Amino acid sequence: MALFTWDSSLSVNIGEIDEQHKKLVTMVNDLFEAMKAGKGSQVMGKVLADLTTYTKTHFATEERLMKGNSYPHYLAHKKEHDDLIAQVDDLYTKFQAGQMVLSTSVGNFLKGWLVNHIKGTDMKYKPFLNQKGVK
Ligand code: FEO
Repeated sequence: MALFTWDSSLSVNIGEIDEQHKKLVTMVNDLFEAMKAGKGSQVMGKVLADLTTYTKTHFATEERLMKGNSYPHYLAHKKEHDDLIAQVDDLYTKFQAGQMVLSTSVGNFLKGWLVNHIKGTDMKYKPFLNQKGVK
């Protein structure tokens, strides 16, 4: 069973961003499923690396749109992104060094972060960017 699903409550009404959020939801689910299936560390490492890379791609897209449209809360939003990237990079480094085992708590952390960030922080730029014609 999937860990969670994307639904319209997560939509920021910007096509490119909604597609990226959907992909992130899928990737977190893939990580969770790989854990449940007891996949080896090589497979798990690849899933985690792909998720880390795509998260950075997604954050760069959002930051370009926010900065390009002079979003007033850009810096606070970017700080949340930077903090998560630091945490995920740390997870990956520890995993690669054999200092950490991926567990469901990691999947739950990523799920919780993603949902809370989209609903709590991304939603704040939705009316601002939509009003600027970003859809
Ligand atoms: Fe969709 Fe601010 O991350």
